[in-house]
Amino acid sequence: MSSYHPHEQTLAQLPQPSSVEIQHSEKLVEMVARAIEQQGGMISFREYMNHLLFAPGLGYYSAGLFKFGSAGDFVTSPEISPMFGRTLANQCEQLFDQGCQRRILEFGAGSGKLCEQILGKLENLDSYLILELSADLRQRQQRYLQKALPFEIFDRINWLDSLPDKFDGIVLANEVLDAMPVNRVKKNTRWFELGVGYIEGRFSWGYLPGTGDAITYIENLEARFGPYDDGYTTEVNLNYLPWLKALAETSHQIVALIIDYGYECAEYYHPQRQQGTLLCHYHHRVHSDPLVLPGLQDITASVDFDAVADAAEKAGFDVIGLVSQGRFLLDNGLLDEVGFNDRSGNTLAQLDVAQQIKTLTLPDEMGEKFKVIALKKNLDIELPAFLAKS
Ligand SMILES: C[S@@+](CC[C@H](N)C(=O)[O-])C[C@H]1O[C@@H](n2cnc3c(N)ncnc32)[C@H](O)[C@@H]1O
Repeated sequence: MSSYHPHEQTLAQLPQPSSVEIQHSEKLVEMVARAIEQQGGMISFREYMNHLLFAPGLGYYSAGLFKFGSAGDFVTSPEISPMFGRTLANQCEQLFDQGCQRRILEFGAGSGKLCEQILGKLENLDSYLILELSADLRQRQQRYLQKALPFEIFDRINWLDSLPDKFDGIVLANEVLDAMPVNRVKKNTRWFELGVGYIEGRFSWGYLPGTGDAITYIENLEARFGPYDDGYTTEVNLNYLPWLKALAETSHQIVALIIDYGYECAEYYHPQRQQGTLLCHYHHRVHSDPLVLPGLQDITASVDFDAVADAAEKAGFDVIGLVSQGRFLLDNGLLDEVGFNDRSGNTLAQLDVAQQIKTLTLPDEMGEKFKVIALKKNLDIELPAFLAKS
């Protein structure tokens, strides 16, 4: 029998983790293996992903490893350029001018850079709230922003670990939905939900017994877009509705700007997308095996923007529209921010700024795959960036 193992093939192509990383990962593996044993040998992939990203003190986002920027595992738009946050601030200003309360609630603030960029541009903001699930990231954001911002501006930021009782204003979520744990389903004559077991010291895939909401969801999609071949594997994100419902319930007047990479439904669940959209990021290498490097790599799934729009309407929002990140930024004055970013006049700095603009807006970089969906509740506002262009 061959000794080939798919995990080994993935690992051979990735940088070796350090001994500190390995020790850290082993603690998480022990905890997840115990959870698997307690549940009879398998947990859903959604539960596995939740542990791997958010287990207190151990998960990828909850523990102290460096994640963002060139020294981490991946780079997000606010890490690429301060012009990203300043342009988003322009969009917020337009909303404030139309009667939206001058408050911002940012979900999942990462390194804190987006908050720094927005507060650097918006004066007279009543408050800036950050809802961050990871206690470690919260501490890092506090340390970073305390240094980066003058005291009177830093003083306007408050950190939350759950939704406030009441919030009216603007909600921002950049690359948050792609980190929400997804259910994974696979067709093998019929649809199965994938689970994760722990056998001989390794995580392994298995089929969960029974059916649930994720199976109902994919069966309905198959009736629209299929039939899918045996082996077709994809993800279903069941978090959008409860997340948006909770948000709608805390607010009377609100606008949400949700930015992420993803597709509309027909493209997401295209019969040719045989292995879904699940991706893992480790030291700037991208692969699709979430069972390796537990706790050391980011695990993400693209966003289904039609599902977000449906969930938003069910939750009581109106959908303002969906646009590409490139168009959103250009329509909101990205190019006017060049002067802020490059005050030196030196050629290398100018090239750097030009590269940042390209990365954020070009279709084959982040310009098309990243999109912005805008939602509103009880506000009579218009956002020109979301109006159809003839
Ligand atoms: C990929 S990072 C993006 C960070 C940052 N927004 C940026 O653009 O650089 C995902 C962030 O979302 C947070 N997160 C994931 N799910 C969340 C949720 N349901 N509520 C709040 N934060 C969440 C993570 O802890 C992390 O800070």
